[in-house]
Amino acid sequence: MSDLGPELSFLRDRGFGAAVPTLALILGSGFGAIEAACEPQVRIDYVEIPGLPAPSGLPGHVCRLTQGCLWGVNALVFRGRYHGYEGFTARELGLLPRLAQGLGASLLVVTNASGGIRPGLEAGNLLAITDHINLMGLNPLVGLPRISGAARFAPMAGAYDPALVDALVAAAGRAGESMQRGVYAAVLGPSFETAAEVRALAAQGADAVGMSTVPEVIVARALGMSVCGLSLITNRAGSSDDSHDQTLRQGNDNAARLGRVLEQFVKGLGQPFN
Ligand code: HPA
Repeated sequence: MSDLGPELSFLRDRGFGAAVPTLALILGSGFGAIEAACEPQVRIDYVEIPGLPAPSGLPGHVCRLTQGCLWGVNALVFRGRYHGYEGFTARELGLLPRLAQGLGASLLVVTNASGGIRPGLEAGNLLAITDHINLMGLNPLVGLPRISGAARFAPMAGAYDPALVDALVAAAGRAGESMQRGVYAAVLGPSFETAAEVRALAAQGADAVGMSTVPEVIVARALGMSVCGLSLITNRAGSSDDSHDQTLRQGNDNAARLGRVLEQFVKGLGQPFN
């Protein structure tokens, strides 16, 4: 029995999961506006769901769950996420994908902001995440078997479905955007990287660095969900203008572009990618 039983029952009683969602979408920093594309059937603030921790209330992180019609498919849209740098536990960082899977979603689409490491990844660029490096120092699967149905020693090879990565890049093309592919490294934060850390990340094979997403992907894969991820480069990692304000501003400024790519991606689901 999942230890999320009460939370899921609460949500089902309010109509969540009544229709099987085609996908779950987690909207990261500054991308909240994309939620407006979802015609809501049911909506609830995370804080209203018993058992879920209260979000820390950082500016730019409105936290609520909507289920409804998103570009023609039924979707769960998570606006806002839990971050390790806010002090949430590894278990809490895995809650959103567990709710998504518990409500019937088999595909998780994650979005985030990141700092560019590879030359050519500049503020405003879009990145399809091909793989990750977990440098957060925590793993949401620690503490199993409390997560029922999850593999404790979950394989992470191919975590970001290559066909879905191709689909994201193709969707970007249809939306008139170019999208690079690359490896996302997750650090705990909240401090940004030193110049030496950026060099170390590059040497390890990271193309971009951020402070989220990876725990969600680990849980989703352990639960057997398909995953893909889209990152907006908001700054060059380690540059002197790294700031949370810059991340949010870039997110807000580019949310509409991200939305158009996601729209094409969703409309292309189930169709050949090229
Ligand atoms: N480092 C870590 N996380 C980030 C960055 C960065 O440069 N930009 C946006 N999120």
